[in-house]
Amino acid sequence: MMAKPKVFYDKDADLTILKDKIIAVIGYGNQGRAQSLNMRDSGLKVIVGNRKDEYYDIAVRDGFEVYSIDRAVKLADVICFLIPDEVQPAVFEKYIRPNLKKGAVLDFASGYTVHFGFIEPPENIDVIMVAPKMIGASVRELYLKGTGCTSLVAVHQDYSGKALDYALALAKAIGSTRSGAILSTFEEEAVTDLFGEQVLAGGQLFLLRFVFDLLVSAGYNPYVVLLELYMSGEAAEEAKKIVRMGLFKQLSLHSPTSQYGQLTRGPRMINKQAQETLREILDEIVDGRFAKEWELEKKAGYVRMRILKRKALEHPLNRFEEELRKMVKIILPE
Ligand code: NAI
Repeated sequence: MMAKPKVFYDKDADLTILKDKIIAVIGYGNQGRAQSLNMRDSGLKVIVGNRKDEYYDIAVRDGFEVYSIDRAVKLADVICFLIPDEVQPAVFEKYIRPNLKKGAVLDFASGYTVHFGFIEPPENIDVIMVAPKMIGASVRELYLKGTGCTSLVAVHQDYSGKALDYALALAKAIGSTRSGAILSTFEEEAVTDLFGEQVLAGGQLFLLRFVFDLLVSAGYNPYVVLLELYMSGEAAEEAKKIVRMGLFKQLSLHSPTSQYGQLTRGPRMINKQAQETLREILDEIVDGRFAKEWELEKKAGYVRMRILKRKALEHPLNRFEEELRKMVKIILPE
């Protein structure tokens, strides 16, 4: 049995380590905006570094001092690097590495670029991770509600000897130690995050599409099928019940017929072939093949991704969804 991970709460983290520091948030997107606002509300000195685009203007409108990325890094003691993973390496080499102070703290919200070796930080800085397990908008929303979202915290490089204290202070400032921040590693975050999104989110998309095609080709009404699969919002409610009650504990909310069907038919879908496929997908992540493939895709100008996305959006299901939305008012409970 694996040991329970270490969990840190507000009492375990001390903001004073960041009190006289300038924190530069590089990138004012999903995570950047939420984390900047939360840290400012937690009493920290936050500046923003952004290229001149619409995000730059939003940061100015939100009342931050906004600088070019290189200037912000020069001014900062702590750098929260919050731009998309695939553009991080080039931006790091051009604007961040040349301007990093000795003893600076470099914080990531994902383990991806460091774990897979796309960024090799200099030895004279701390390298830490505070990875919220939540989309940016909710990182802000939950902070304002007073609850906060949980995060994984990790130390990749401890130059100062205080790297974990910095990670915990940042986690506290964005609201994560209110609910509990879990000690992890860059590798663990990167691998589990990729695997989760590929097989759960990705697997679900294509399972739903296959089931839609199967039922429609068997003669069932596409609108009724979509309503059953996900458009009614019942499945979304079930997902919330899983979080609140537990994967199997929430079964009691379903009828006995449904429970029996789920418990006998569900396992048949995870047959030997499916198990092997899942293992292969995990191996491709762990040994770096996925990261290399994605890097090549980026270099090729995202051609394959554009084609795959276009094809997905051409599937008839997209049209039925739109029509169904006009026919039935679908309201999701809070
Ligand atoms: P995002 O897509 O919202 O980032 C937009 C920001 O990146 C903007 O400020 C934009 O100016 C800047 N940017 C984009 N391309 C750039 C380039 N070529 N050069 C300079 N700046 C550029 O990013 P998001 O989703 O907030 O992700 C940031 C980090 O947070 C990533 O490491 C991601 O893995 C992690 N993360 C994201 C979550 C989310 O809610 N989306 C959840 C947890 C972690």
